[in-house]
Amino acid sequence: MRAVDIIIKKRDGVELTKEEINFFIKGFTEGSIDNYQASALTMAIYFRGMTDQEATDLTEAILHSGDILDLSQIGGIKVDKHSTGGVGDKTSLVVGPLVASLGIKFAKMSGRGLGHTGGTLDKLESIPGYDISMSEEDFISQVNKIGIALVGQTGELAPADKKLYALRDVTGTVESIPLIASSIMSKKLASGADAICLDVKVGSGAFMKTIESATTLARLMVQIGKACGKDMTAILTNMDEPLGLAVGNSLEVIEAIQTLNGQGPKDFTELCLEVASHLVVAGKLANTLEEARKKLEAQIQNKEGLHTLANLIKAQKGDESYIYHPEKFSKAKYVYPVCATQAGYVSHIDALAIGNVAMMLGAGRSKIGEDIDHAVGIVLNKKVNDLVQENDCIAYIHSNKKDVTEEVKELQNAFSYSSGPIESKLILKVIK
Ligand code: URA
Repeated sequence: MRAVDIIIKKRDGVELTKEEINFFIKGFTEGSIDNYQASALTMAIYFRGMTDQEATDLTEAILHSGDILDLSQIGGIKVDKHSTGGVGDKTSLVVGPLVASLGIKFAKMSGRGLGHTGGTLDKLESIPGYDISMSEEDFISQVNKIGIALVGQTGELAPADKKLYALRDVTGTVESIPLIASSIMSKKLASGADAICLDVKVGSGAFMKTIESATTLARLMVQIGKACGKDMTAILTNMDEPLGLAVGNSLEVIEAIQTLNGQGPKDFTELCLEVASHLVVAGKLANTLEEARKKLEAQIQNKEGLHTLANLIKAQKGDESYIYHPEKFSKAKYVYPVCATQAGYVSHIDALAIGNVAMMLGAGRSKIGEDIDHAVGIVLNKKVNDLVQENDCIAYIHSNKKDVTEEVKELQNAFSYSSGPIESKLILKVIK
């Protein structure tokens, strides 16, 4: 077999076999197939697409390029969730503790933030002492003991994806549905859970700009997961505004704590309950989504979700008193209100722009390994369909630098207005 023949075959729109895909990914991972040939293949895939079978074969080839976590030592059904990348998305910090408080095992490996979306690990590290690194053995033991672990990657999961993604990033081939699906699913499958709920973001702040493209991606990921024996759900959710009000690491942890206290923003609370309900049904603790939701709401009422978050923080060497005293989180030096430039109903808040402002303030990183400032960020004061008057406060900037002229301008430009309320829905579709 030769790499060039596989590239030519895909270039000409012919379906690749499992053997050909395995040969290519193995060679690429080992280094016998070079970057230029992998770039040519990803570009051919970008233009020609892949059948569902090819995408499944590609996912499995990438999955088997590295370690696969064996969670069989954890009793019961293990669940996991994944979001395709949202601004203000701290869902794992609420969903994990809520489902774990009901006895479902939430064993999750998360990533750091890069670009305009924040990473769960960075958010957790705004709690002093929180340790994201753990051996596989300790990870399994903690999930068995307290039902939850939220850690960085242990072992080397899907190394082929790491190499391939770096290449796609610089060759204009990120936005290919089979390549995105295989990239996400190879990593999720390597993490070893039995049931996975995917939150596929749709809108200006997301990879998928339309419901149609998001549906195609979600269907493909669900199909790949099922082909690998997993219980799969994908939820399509609106990213035409940031999720909740807070964007920035400790600000988002505080919002997650408020949500577990029953005082979270409506849209964020709704999304958490939706994702968690699917996981509770998948974990066989409820027969219907309604029954699951009632159980989860009770865990907010009785604070069991909050206590589970505190247990998680403590188990991972963090100071759990922050969960009960969020006023302890270090604060930015300055808080600046941002005023509306016109009157009207807020019709859109560009999540990408808000994410970029958070980065300008130092909440995110533009290069791997950069330091971030956990205290800074943005707290929205208005959301889509709120009526504002000119000069009303639409957001607050939490900053450690004095001059935020640029950030204020960008934030003001991120808001659009209309003369009346618009139709807006958070959960757009559920695909099983
Ligand atoms: N996230 C991933 O992990 N991979 C992609 O290709 C796109 C988003």
